Amino acid sequence: PMRLKHVIPLDFESTKVVPESHIWPETENFPLSDHVLPSDDDEKSKSWIPVIDLMAPNVVELIGHACETWGIFHLTNHGIPSSLIHDVESQARKLFSLPTKQKLKALRSADGATGYGAARMVPFLTKCLWHEGFLIAGSPVEHASVLWPHDHKTFCDVMETYQKMMNSLAHQLLLLMLKWLEVSEDELNWKLSNALFLNSFPACPDPKSTIGLAPHTDSLLITILHQSQEGLQIFRDGFGWVTVSPIEGALVINLGNLMDILSNGKFSGILHRAFVNQIRHRISVAYFCYPPADSQVAPFAKSECPIYSSLTVKEYLEIRAKHMEDALSMIRIK
Ligand code: SIN
Ligand code: FE2
Repeated sequence: PMRLKHVIPLDFESTKVVPESHIWPETENFPLSDHVLPSDDDEKSKSWIPVIDLMAPNVVELIGHACETWGIFHLTNHGIPSSLIHDVESQARKLFSLPTKQKLKALRSADGATGYGAARMVPFLTKCLWHEGFLIAGSPVEHASVLWPHDHKTFCDVMETYQKMMNSLAHQLLLLMLKWLEVSEDELNWKLSNALFLNSFPACPDPKSTIGLAPHTDSLLITILHQSQEGLQIFRDGFGWVTVSPIEGALVINLGNLMDILSNGKFSGILHRAFVNQIRHRISVAYFCYPPADSQVAPFAKSECPIYSSLTVKEYLEIRAKHMEDALSMIRIK
């Protein structure tokens, strides 16, 4: 396929009409107009993702079951203060509200980690996304000080505090998943790495012609997503694209490809995308965790018949960058 060269987000500030580069064809994958909004109607309510209370006595079973059948669920009672979540969203909003010229000063370099830019999937798409992002891997100080020369401390403190709390939540979730899989903690002989991706979806003059994030599965281990406005959709067999409406105080937990590999295909991530709207500027915040790049990932030792070959995180991500959604099948043992 033709590769898009420019990975710099559109200057949304001054764009009053969706340009050709951002108009998506109405293909099978893209019926934005007829997505399902779950209602209380019996049939449709089957498309709701599970809502799990982290403090429930049978939480291992609840999470295990949700991971096996959905690969995505809402988590409540997770212990992350709502004031912190609110601060993260408002700091992100403050960042994306800066003039485009200013944001471009903090552009992420081609191989760079932290900084402003398009989603990583963009170079592999034939159309652009109605989206801009800010990736934080490690300390955001260097890039934040370019954006706000005199006043970046609050931004950095809020992001760092959130990242730390997310790390411990992700670790907790990982242990619960291992328990369900009856795998010993010792099999994880690495420390979790992590990154934060701030997503911005500006209000769009013609939301039905474009898309915020194209359909994808997440590539890493566990994603913890905060959204306070509608936009996330999952692809559900028999239903099509289903909107996952935000639940006040809940976070969305999404499984990634590395979890699929570790669990030998038991815990698969779900295909999802983000749509945009005409009125509001939507912000979402995704936390990702993964083993360090040089660690070996393979189905847990107890898997009787491993369906994936063993490789390093770095090797997997290279395959994923080339083959996107076909990456998992590329490493399947035939
Ligand atoms: C994501 O897929 O990482 C984010 C989706 C969303 O913004 O709802
Ligand atoms: Fe995602």
